[in-house]
Amino acid sequence: MAEKKYGHFDDANREYVITDPKTPWPWINYLGNEDFFSLISNTAGGYSFYKDAKFRRLTRYRYNGVPMDNGGRYFYIKDGDTVWNPGWKPCKTPLDSYECRHGMNYTRITGSKNGVEASVLFFVPLHTWAEVQKMTLKNQTKEVKTLKVFSFAEWCLWNAATDMENFQRNFSTGEVEVEGSTLYHKTEYRERRNHYAFYTVNTEIQGYDTDRESFIGLYNEFAEPEAVMEGKPRNSFAHGWSPIASHYIEVTLQPGESRDLIFLLGYVENEQDKKFSAKKVINKEKAHQLIKKFDTTEKVDAAFAELNQYWDNLLNIFTVKSGNDKLDRMVNIWNQYQCMITFCMSRSASFFESGIGRGMGFRDSNQDLVGFVHQIPTRARQRIIDIASTQFPDGGCYHQYQPLTKRGNNDIGGGFNDDPCWLIFGTVAYIKETGDFSILSEQVPFDNQSGSEVSLFEHLKISMNHIINNLGPHKLPLIGRADWNDCLNLNCFSWDPNESFQTTENKGEGSKAESLMIAGLFVVTGKDYIALCKQLAKEASNCREGEIAGLAEEDYLVEADRMQQAVDAMSEAVKQYGWDGEWFLRAYDFFGNKIGSNENEEGKIFIESQGWCTMAGIGQEEGLCGKALDSAKERLECEHGMVLNNPAYTTYHVEMGEISSYPEGYKENAGIFCHNNPWVIIGETVAGRGNDAWNHYTKILPSYVEEKYQTLHKVEPYVNCQMVAGKDAAKPGEGKNSWLTGTAAWMWYTVSEFILGIKPDYEGLNIDPCLPSTAHEYEVTRKFRGGEYHIVVKNPEGREKGVKQITVDGKVIDGTIIPCSAGKHEVIVQM
Ligand code: BGC
Repeated sequence: MAEKKYGHFDDANREYVITDPKTPWPWINYLGNEDFFSLISNTAGGYSFYKDAKFRRLTRYRYNGVPMDNGGRYFYIKDGDTVWNPGWKPCKTPLDSYECRHGMNYTRITGSKNGVEASVLFFVPLHTWAEVQKMTLKNQTKEVKTLKVFSFAEWCLWNAATDMENFQRNFSTGEVEVEGSTLYHKTEYRERRNHYAFYTVNTEIQGYDTDRESFIGLYNEFAEPEAVMEGKPRNSFAHGWSPIASHYIEVTLQPGESRDLIFLLGYVENEQDKKFSAKKVINKEKAHQLIKKFDTTEKVDAAFAELNQYWDNLLNIFTVKSGNDKLDRMVNIWNQYQCMITFCMSRSASFFESGIGRGMGFRDSNQDLVGFVHQIPTRARQRIIDIASTQFPDGGCYHQYQPLTKRGNNDIGGGFNDDPCWLIFGTVAYIKETGDFSILSEQVPFDNQSGSEVSLFEHLKISMNHIINNLGPHKLPLIGRADWNDCLNLNCFSWDPNESFQTTENKGEGSKAESLMIAGLFVVTGKDYIALCKQLAKEASNCREGEIAGLAEEDYLVEADRMQQAVDAMSEAVKQYGWDGEWFLRAYDFFGNKIGSNENEEGKIFIESQGWCTMAGIGQEEGLCGKALDSAKERLECEHGMVLNNPAYTTYHVEMGEISSYPEGYKENAGIFCHNNPWVIIGETVAGRGNDAWNHYTKILPSYVEEKYQTLHKVEPYVNCQMVAGKDAAKPGEGKNSWLTGTAAWMWYTVSEFILGIKPDYEGLNIDPCLPSTAHEYEVTRKFRGGEYHIVVKNPEGREKGVKQITVDGKVIDGTIIPCSAGKHEVIVQM
């Protein structure tokens, strides 16, 4: 039986349209893409923050709320005795119509009740520290309507962690100011903060509230604020407790009349010596300027058009026309959009990530970059420098850093031995996209200590060295606290539930724990590094100074040679000690015992090493890759994608740590951890198996899932989630942790570079598709280093791999790399 559907794609508008507010889980969107961000659910729940969801939380949000998703930007409309919200929540008054459209950094929620329609457009204008909420009220009846409109936002006392914990202080610090229609939040501004927030509306108000209990009533819920129910604002002024901002506006609408109200929730920072305009009075100059920019419908509409134009430009860099809507909408719209969001948020703020837990991950951010670098390379460049600045002099890295301070996170520290490799991965992607080698000469500190700067190239070198200097008894990389799989904690040995799996090493000394995943990753990134060195040798010999980042042609050739030896040695070690007969092992544990081997009872095979070792092409000639891919297909694949390991662990294994703490089929214990599926898919393309690659790819492609399992899948059908419950789970196919996952970048990298086969390279675009035999023709338009390439791939015989001939502007080229040149180009590729 077909499942119930809660929405559908609208490709022409680049929107997902939700038609029932009771989605199986809040389906959210993100507003803002630079400094000011908001999360917004399909019922207008969520919150806003400036740069850092932990340190600069502007509005409050409740975790573990009952019902789920409590708190947000709520508008209450009182029409006679009926009180309703355009987004249905929190009153949940049955609406006559409801629709939520999530678009590119905007959301429009429209509800109607008793002949009144309220449509609210939410967005953060470009380069603006504020969220605009443009509400359009329409009287669709033949009578005059007199409405009482109440807005509502609840302030967070800035630090989202202490806001939830330090009540002995918090209940006394809250301070506000009111000026005309603007309600200011200035808690702690009297002392060390130089920032405040405000909530305003572009019309005269007939009342307001700034104290939560006065507005809602101590025994009431968001669904029944006393002030709203009585239709009377309290004009309350908060002193401590919980400051809020609520406007009260009386609106009279003639039959057929409509009216816009523009609300603005903004954030301001003042210089230390300009904090106050009088004793205790905040300097509102910047707030006034900001308010003025968005105080009319015309100004707001212009800002909205600008945002749409911005997205037109971003999404025009790479477009595909394949005749398959489900592929096209992911490639052209949603996959790229999700990449932008993960680039901005890392793993910090979603409806699964609290915003107070993790900042930016070292490995995560490098991977996210690959999904984003073609869109705004300058921001990717800055990100690389920020990340590298948190590295230690021995090549190790802080596992996370905070976006506001850009400092490494001491709570988690370092010791995740895959981390250094990812810096190569991100940097190489940046240079291949832009051709900008100058980034390698940037002087970048260690651990943000000024005076410690060395070139970025040097950072890459010590990253590689960190792996080489930390090899175990089988000449394979020591795993440290964990590799990509944060939950495979081979030195942890914890029996104490109060210990963190990630930061505890109860055994470590003399550990033999080695990782095949890092081995494969090292070979892949090592090859990248070698190619980079060779390219640098060329560039250095061609440039006037004769050197780049302080090194000359010869130096780079020597370095390439050194690394080639290390890569060869690693490949040999993998073949000798890392092959189990039908697939690659996953690891050796503390004692030197095998993990991910046929000899094990549970966890016989893992996905990560199959992915990385086949991407690296280790043992390709000897047939190892083909076997490993077949084994993955046979043992890991199921209806919803490939699980991480099989069979799942059914008990806790102290020598393996967190992985075995999860019930079977969830998360790292045999869940479908979507992030790593693309590794095998790329491995399939390296082996030239286009049908298998396509089959794996579409199993976790949101548009395919959207069609089949909205209720089962639960989370947003327009983006990938981190994990889908695997075949051993109680409910296979149930999705969790949507939005912030490396899956986004990896899906993009996979489809754009390995399936559609358009790969940026140092000298141009390398064309090398790997297709299902049903793909006979498609077109890609790719903007690249000042040129625009219209590429038509023809595959009449349904080949999976192998380019026969390429013509550029009518001329046959040698090889598969289209050289860079400005202007528009017609490219025909014959498979
Ligand atoms: C983390 C990644 C990690 C993955 C697998 C994610 O939640 O952000 O850094 O690689 O889990 O454990």
